[in-house]
Amino acid sequence: MKTPKAMVLRQQLQHFMTLYRNKLGLNKFTAHKFELKHLQVCLKSLDPIFHDYTIIQLTDIHLGQWITPNHLKGIIELVNQEKPDLIALTGDYVSYLIDQYEADLTNCLKNLNPLDASLAVLGNHDHWLGAKKMRSILKNSGVIDISNEVYTIHRENTCLHVVGLDSVMLNKDQLDNVINKIPVEGPAILIVHEPDFADISSSTGRFSLQLSGHSHGGQFIIPFWNNTIIKGPYFKKYPLGKYKVGDMIQYTSRGLGTNVFWFRINCPPEITIIKLKSAEYEDES
Ligand SMILES: [Fe+2]
Repeated sequence: MKTPKAMVLRQQLQHFMTLYRNKLGLNKFTAHKFELKHLQVCLKSLDPIFHDYTIIQLTDIHLGQWITPNHLKGIIELVNQEKPDLIALTGDYVSYLIDQYEADLTNCLKNLNPLDASLAVLGNHDHWLGAKKMRSILKNSGVIDISNEVYTIHRENTCLHVVGLDSVMLNKDQLDNVINKIPVEGPAILIVHEPDFADISSSTGRFSLQLSGHSHGGQFIIPFWNNTIIKGPYFKKYPLGKYKVGDMIQYTSRGLGTNVFWFRINCPPEITIIKLKSAEYEDES
């Protein structure tokens, strides 16, 4: 299949930016440029055994477009230092080039070292560049692709479900299908690339928390207001941070990389560290 002209132009732009970045010496990883964002979420039906369960969310890596393999290596070292129980990857691993970054992406993701598992779904860019290829990269990295699937974590006689939905923007999501796969007992957390899906997911009443990316936080956060006016398809309503949608918490990460230009004003790249809290435990304390 012939690559569309717009894609070729964007690929050339990405090549040009790589050269420019290398020339300026921006390849080096500097930890303080990446914010470790701490978030606590109390889940009503979470068994106390899962109190303080730690999930680290990484999203919108867009590897090769400002985030270099060196950066990603450094990010993963920061993640491992936090000793997470679970890692949630919410899509857009690449921008406009995939073959050139396959080995680097695989080698970096392989180093993720959570207690339970690294779980992933795909974003729009992953589908544009080849979902089959991206799924094979994830598999070779030891990351479990849970697009339209359920992953259950067990502790003694209780459990916690992480549900993955494939890209909503590309109409790959199968909510009706996947919701039937969730066992009746135990709270469920949804990971899906596009944040505005929260209106639909919360209306099911089955999810306590949704984790998304896609927006890059708008890439421009207005000081003192702590919000953004830059919105786009599927991140118009929930572009940045924490929201209460019905009975569900929606969290939209600012993500790591950017699309096209490195334009981030008051909106640093983010590694999100989510600590789950059991309501039962919190009530006693
Ligand atoms: Fe996206």
